[in-house]
Amino acid sequence: MGSLTKTVVFLCVASSVLCTPFINQLQPGQEWPTRSSVKQPYNQAEPEPTVGGVTKNEEVDVPAVVDEEKATDDDKPIETLDDVVERIDYTGAQVWKVSTMKNNAQRLINQLASEKLIASWGGNHTSIDILVKPKALENVTAALKTKDISYYVMIEDLQQRINEENPPLDENELELQDRRGHRMTWKQYHRLEDIHGFMDYLAKTYPSIVSVKTIGKSHEGRDLKMLRISDGKPSNKAVFIDGGIHAREWISPAVVTYFINQFAENFDVESDDIKNIDWYFLPVVNPDGYEYTHKTDRLWRKNRKFGYGPSSCTGTDLNRNFGYRWGGKGASSYPCSDIYRGSGPFSEPESKAINDFFKSSAVKFSAYLTYHSYGQYLLYPWGYDNALPPDHKDLESMGKLIAQAIRNTGGSNYQVGSSSGLLYPASGGSDDWAKSLNIKYTYTIELSDTGRYGFVLPASYIEPVARENIAGVRVLARQLSKI
Ligand SMILES: *[C@@H]1O[C@H](CO)[C@@H](O)[C@H](O)[C@H]1NC(C)=O
Ligand SMILES: *[C@@H]1O[C@H](CO)[C@@H](O)[C@H](O)[C@H]1NC(C)=O
Ligand SMILES: [Zn+2]
Repeated sequence: MGSLTKTVVFLCVASSVLCTPFINQLQPGQEWPTRSSVKQPYNQAEPEPTVGGVTKNEEVDVPAVVDEEKATDDDKPIETLDDVVERIDYTGAQVWKVSTMKNNAQRLINQLASEKLIASWGGNHTSIDILVKPKALENVTAALKTKDISYYVMIEDLQQRINEENPPLDENELELQDRRGHRMTWKQYHRLEDIHGFMDYLAKTYPSIVSVKTIGKSHEGRDLKMLRISDGKPSNKAVFIDGGIHAREWISPAVVTYFINQFAENFDVESDDIKNIDWYFLPVVNPDGYEYTHKTDRLWRKNRKFGYGPSSCTGTDLNRNFGYRWGGKGASSYPCSDIYRGSGPFSEPESKAINDFFKSSAVKFSAYLTYHSYGQYLLYPWGYDNALPPDHKDLESMGKLIAQAIRNTGGSNYQVGSSSGLLYPASGGSDDWAKSLNIKYTYTIELSDTGRYGFVLPASYIEPVARENIAGVRVLARQLSKI
C-alpha cells in the first residue's frame, strides 16, 4: 500500500487536470436545476464522466471535416491549424451595397441570386449587401445600370479582407497567453479548441461560481459546451446568452466569451445586478460550421449536416430550424439554400440540444440574448411574420435602454425594432422560440458593423464591440433587478 496514494499525489502535482475531481466540487445548491433533480438528462445515451455536475476536460475523437466527396474515413481525429485544407478562394469577389428603394430592385436581386451570380449578405428595407462573384462583375453591373439601380462597392477584394482580418498575435500577447493558463484572447478570432479550453479553465479556476456542461453534440460530434456563472443564491434571476448560431459571424462568439471573461474573472467586484443573476452562456452553438469557416470556407453560414434528396447540399440554417412557427415565411425548403429550414422543427442536433436543455431545465429565464452579425440591430419578436407580442412595448423600451447604453459607451448606433418589421419575416428563429417559452426579454442582437467589413470584421474590432455591448448587458441586468 502507500504507492497508490503516492501515485495519486504525484499525478495531482504533475497535472492539475487529473486533479479536477478534487478541486472542482460544486458547492451545495450549485447544481444546475433540472426538472428531474436526480440526473442530468443531456448525456443519456453515453453518460460523460462528471464530477459535481461538471464535465471533465477530456479528449474526444471527432470525425474529420473534409470535402463531402472525399469523406471516407469517419474516425480521423479533429484537424488542427497545421492541417493543409483546400480553402475556398474569394479573390476578386466584391461586396456591394445596393439601394432597394426602386420597386423592381428586390426582384432583380432575387433573379441574380437564383442565377448564382451574387449571394445576399443581408439588408433592410432600403438597401441590401450582395457578394458579387468575380466572373459576374460585368453582368451584374450591366443589370443594375439597365434598371437604374444605384450601388456602391464596399469591399473591392473579399479575399484580401479575409487575409487581413485575423492577424497573428504579437510577441507580448503570445507571452501572456503562455502565462494565463488558457489561450483565449480578444485580440484574435480563436479556434473552437481555445474557446472550450478557456471555458474549462474558468470552471477549474473558479469552481464555486463557474461550471461547464456539455448539453449535446454537434452533427460531427463536437461538444456543445455551456458555461454557467452563479453564486447559487436561490433568489437569483436567470439569463441565457448564446452566440455562433451562424458560422461566419465570428464577432459573435468573440463577444460572448468576452462577457464570460469579464463576469467570471471579476465576479467579486461585480455589481449586485450581475451577481443576482445566474448567467448561462453557449458561445458556439454551431461548432462544426465555425471550424469549417476557419479551415475551408470563411463565409459558410449553416451547420454541416449532410443534405438529403437529389440536391444533397450540406447544411441547415440553424436559425430557421427552431420549433415555433417552423417552416413559415423567410425560410427555404430547398437544402441548397443558405436559409434552408431543415427537414423538420429541431431536426438538427445543435438546435435540438438547446431545446432539450430548456425543456429539462427548471430555471425560469428572464431574458434570452442571441448574438449575430451584422447590421447593428436590437431585434425582438416576432420574426415569423409582421406581428408583435402583447408586451412589445416593454421589449421596445428595454431595447431602447440597451441601445442607449451601447451608444454612450462606444458610439455605435443600434436600431431597435421587431425583426419582421425592421428587417423582413424569417420563421424558425431562436428568438421566436424563446419568446414562445415565455421568456420575456428576448432579443436577437446583430453586432457591428453596417457593411463596411460585414462578416469579415477585423479582429481589432472585437474589444470595442464587446465593450459597448457589455454595457448593454449591464443595463439589462440593472433593469431586471428592478422587476
Ligand atoms: C453574362 O452575360 C452574357 C451576355 O448576356 C452571357 O452570355 C454570359 O453567360 C453571362 N455571364 C454569366 C457569368 O452569367
Ligand atoms: C439600412 O441600412 C443602411 C446601411 O446599411 C442604413 O444607412 C439605412 O439607414 C438603413 N435603413 C433602414 C430603414 O433601416
Ligand atoms: Zn446570424
